[in-house]
Amino acid sequence: MRVRVPATVANFGPGFDVFGVGIGEPHDELRFRESDEWSINVRGFPVPADGSNVAVVAAKTLASMVGEEVALRMELKKGIRPRSGLGSSGASSLAGSLAMAKVLGVEDEELILKAAMEGERAACGSAHGDNVVPAYYGDFTVIESLNPLRVHRIPVDFHVVVVLPSVEIPTREARKVLPEKVPLKDAVKNVALASSLVKALQEGDLKTVGRLLDDRLAFPYRRRLYPWWETAKKAAIEAGAYGVSISGSGPAVFAIGEDVTEIGKAIAEAFNRMDIEAEAYITVAGRG
Ligand code: HSE
Repeated sequence: MRVRVPATVANFGPGFDVFGVGIGEPHDELRFRESDEWSINVRGFPVPADGSNVAVVAAKTLASMVGEEVALRMELKKGIRPRSGLGSSGASSLAGSLAMAKVLGVEDEELILKAAMEGERAACGSAHGDNVVPAYYGDFTVIESLNPLRVHRIPVDFHVVVVLPSVEIPTREARKVLPEKVPLKDAVKNVALASSLVKALQEGDLKTVGRLLDDRLAFPYRRRLYPWWETAKKAAIEAGAYGVSISGSGPAVFAIGEDVTEIGKAIAEAFNRMDIEAEAYITVAGRG
């Protein structure tokens, strides 16, 4: 049996730990079957091929949540680069959880997603849901609460370009720089941005969505992790992007606009001028 889980753009501007969207590509693929003992082989991008792999962690978590003892033999084709900002650990975690769910016949979505979030916790110290939830549903998702898990889904279908520079940012490190408290005016601004963005998305008004791709909760504190940001952003806007932002905790940059191929080329070239290699993926937001 096999399961395929796509990359995701978490945060999506102002929705820190709340908004996310499945983007179809790149993706992880996990082949699995029940076995006498646990094993995992990895192809593609290098990640641990032992019990610390988040696919194994999430699968074991789901089994223990339902009080079963089952081992799986796994083969992971890792297509999403780790530490990229594209929900790489979330995708592998969800793949592991879905594999165990299939073997045990578990259909409870909340359990499957919570087990996957434990994979996230193992990877970066925080069981955030804004990668595993949109990876599961595909849609643009808004996480109202984690306990109990309440999710609002907005079906979307628009092109997005994701540009992945050849630098790595571990989410664990990017979360360490965040403050416990933020100024009230920044919180107010984010409520305004996030609520307006949801309305614009529902109306399919991509220009307005682009204008609202801003964030005052995490970005200002993470800004120093992205020394190339202004240059990449300027290139995107000059190429006609409606808006541009960091995917998850970065370094991937995503943009929306009329001609995402041109925008992606412009962003990648901007990275190249700063001696950073970059790869652009043109994908469709709303694919899980
Ligand atoms: N919301 C998370 C963060 C996503 O920004 O830390 C990480 O992929």
